[in-house]
Amino acid sequence: MIIEPRMRGFICTTSHPKGCEQNVKNQIEYIKSKGPINGAKKVLVIGASTGFGLASRITSAFGSDAATIGVFFEKPPTEGKTASPGWYNSAAFETEAHKAGLYAKSINGDAFSNEVKQQTLDLIKADLGQVDLVIYSLASPVRMHPVTGVLHRSVLKPIGSTFTNKTVDFHSGKVSEISIEPCSGDDIENTVAVMGGEDWAMWIDALKAQNLLAHGATTVAYSYIGPSLTEAVYRKGTIGRAKDHLEATAFAITDSLAAIDGKAFVSVNKALVTQASSAIPVIPLYISLLYKIMKEEGIHEGCIEQIQRLYQERLYTGNEVPVDEKGRIRIDDLEMRPDVQEKVAKLWIEAVTENLSEIGDLEGYRKDFYNLFGFDVVGVDYKADTNEVVNIESIG
Ligand SMILES: NC(=O)c1ccc[n+]([C@@H]2O[C@H](COP(=O)([O-])OP(=O)(O)OC[C@H]3O[C@@H](n4cnc5c(N)ncnc54)[C@H](O)[C@@H]3O)[C@@H](O)[C@H]2O)c1
Repeated sequence: MIIEPRMRGFICTTSHPKGCEQNVKNQIEYIKSKGPINGAKKVLVIGASTGFGLASRITSAFGSDAATIGVFFEKPPTEGKTASPGWYNSAAFETEAHKAGLYAKSINGDAFSNEVKQQTLDLIKADLGQVDLVIYSLASPVRMHPVTGVLHRSVLKPIGSTFTNKTVDFHSGKVSEISIEPCSGDDIENTVAVMGGEDWAMWIDALKAQNLLAHGATTVAYSYIGPSLTEAVYRKGTIGRAKDHLEATAFAITDSLAAIDGKAFVSVNKALVTQASSAIPVIPLYISLLYKIMKEEGIHEGCIEQIQRLYQERLYTGNEVPVDEKGRIRIDDLEMRPDVQEKVAKLWIEAVTENLSEIGDLEGYRKDFYNLFGFDVVGVDYKADTNEVVNIESIG
């Protein structure tokens, strides 16, 4: 079929298998171009199909020749209906990994559930024995709690008072003012239950209990801080509470892994266009201004550049992992550089519909957004008849 982008609100309901494949191939080429990394050899990535998790899986496999197991929750294709992009990404990843002689298997299901955890543990036991790196990169709006059966929904709201600021509809380029009402009821608890550290700790406890973590194993989860411009809706909002919980969980996990000399880290990553970040008001305007400045300065990075740097310059240098005063790895250092933030803050005041395509990188934002779904990717023939039914080799 001929596959075109179809938009519904902030999401694209179609995705292009060839575009996703090309994106994965480009990321693999990037990792190969940067040379080998002396990293972990048996790696579990939870949230492995898009964004930072996919970049982590690619970096481990093609930077360190690692065997990888990827867990994700994606929609498979059916005749006449495309899969979600993470499905096509994972299909392309496995094909390329297998071609390179690397072990790669995937599990598609709800990582919050006991069933998917057990399925993953069984696979590790059968095929790898143990893992020495666990990347935790889930981003989800809901979590069915495996013990209580309660369905928790996360919200992206400020805490305490209404937040009013500028935002942009990146499709139309229209800059407007938006007011976001503060959270209420159990919003904070629910958001912490979905995006906090409880599930990460459950994974690590389950792996440890069945002796599936190698001596000295490392686990890393991803967080975000960002500037004061966005803090009411991000770091000081409901999602920020979840990130505080995630960061605190790293210490608890490190303590629990003392017997095997294991360590848990949180890495604070840069703001990037993903399905999740496009849906947060205010953030797209911030990202489009940030991209403009970082590209002008020659310091712009995408997920793959970020994770390559995380592995090469933080996790696997042969020395102690450098962390900030709160014990976090920082690869948002370039985003948070004072000169970058000063310039973004100045542009923020100036930004209006009429000048945003000039002073901000609206085009770059849109391109990254379409790229997430495999559209607008250089080298892909979008007029060609394309088979939407693509299998992931290990799933079939
Ligand atoms: N995007 C950013 O700007 C940014 C910046 C810093 C940190 N982060 C953090 O990085 C992490 C990953 O975010 P991302 O932007 O790469 O997200 P993403 O949406 O691209 O990826 C999320 C992954 O989680 C998987 N997933 C979601 N629900 C699942 C479930 N129930 N079971 C199994 N898999 C499930 C998806 O299949 C996908 O592989 C998050 O913790 C996020 O907060 C994001």
